[in-house]
Amino acid sequence: QTEISRVRNLDRVQMGRHEIEPWYFSPYPIEFSDADMVYICEFCLCYFAEMKQFERHRRKCTLLHPPGNEIYRDEYVSFFEVDGRRQRTWCRNLCLLSKLFLDHKTLYFDVDPFLFYCMTTRDEHGCHLVGYFSKEKESAEGYNVACILTLPQYQRKGFGRLLIAFSYELSKRENKLGSPEKPLSDLGLLGYRAYWQETIVDLLMDGRTDANIEELGAATAMTTNDVLHTLQNLNMLRYSRNQHVIVLTDAVIEQRERQRQKEKAKGAHRIEPEKLSWKPPV
Ligand code: COA
Ligand code: NA
Repeated sequence: QTEISRVRNLDRVQMGRHEIEPWYFSPYPIEFSDADMVYICEFCLCYFAEMKQFERHRRKCTLLHPPGNEIYRDEYVSFFEVDGRRQRTWCRNLCLLSKLFLDHKTLYFDVDPFLFYCMTTRDEHGCHLVGYFSKEKESAEGYNVACILTLPQYQRKGFGRLLIAFSYELSKRENKLGSPEKPLSDLGLLGYRAYWQETIVDLLMDGRTDANIEELGAATAMTTNDVLHTLQNLNMLRYSRNQHVIVLTDAVIEQRERQRQKEKAKGAHRIEPEKLSWKPPV
């Protein structure tokens, strides 16, 4: 665990077919700060300051997907579960890479207590990492996500929503309510708020308007607190006879209808729970 409060050190990073500009400092070895370009192998996440070395590595590297079990596959994405203890180097490389886009001051090099759920898209060259979230094997606070990231070249395309939805599917399988680790970043909060609102409003619009807060939590694996705050943000809570009453307002319905039109036009993807082949680790 290292305290980090330094300025951005890498100028440009190349990963797969993408060139990315880092947002924040990440503790790559000091000599990488002088490189014009840092080359990251998109499969093993090893890093190189010299193109020649990188090309030599690419000819030898045999990894074609994250080093874990594929626990979900649909026509669009695959998820791999990677154990921090068994794949220490890969997971440390993932943490280094993701720190380039995460503003928090602490980087956890101790990856052993975490599982990493890595989302990829597939093509003839392999399974390309799009984003991931980490999850503590044992969370005393009941968090179902520690860190969550969509790589910047894939952001704002609906992948974050899929990552969040997947984290709640795991919680449903565990028969637990979950919530992401706090504090959330600004982007994290935007992503979660959007997911929470859509999920709850969809349930209510699909005929469960009499659902109470506990039932909404049980159906979504969201904590009562997150359900409550979401309903408050949407101005959908009334208090009557000592009880919370959920009111699905016309404004909320109209807003969600508009969003659904957009999603349909974009061909938005969903997680299909029956395609998750996973049991909670014991
Ligand atoms: N501005 C405004 N709203 C945003 C946003 C942005 N930059 N990014 C996400 N949202 C909201 C929108 O409502 C969006 O829906 P829309 O695109 O239909 O309007 C919704 O979140 C879902 O967006 P999505 O495309 O699924 O998210 P994403 O793939 O871009 O991933 C994060 C979201 C948070 C994972 C991503 O921004 C990220 O990795 N950020 C850097 C790391 C980070 O801060 N992680 C959280 C640490 S706690
Ligand atoms: Na630099």
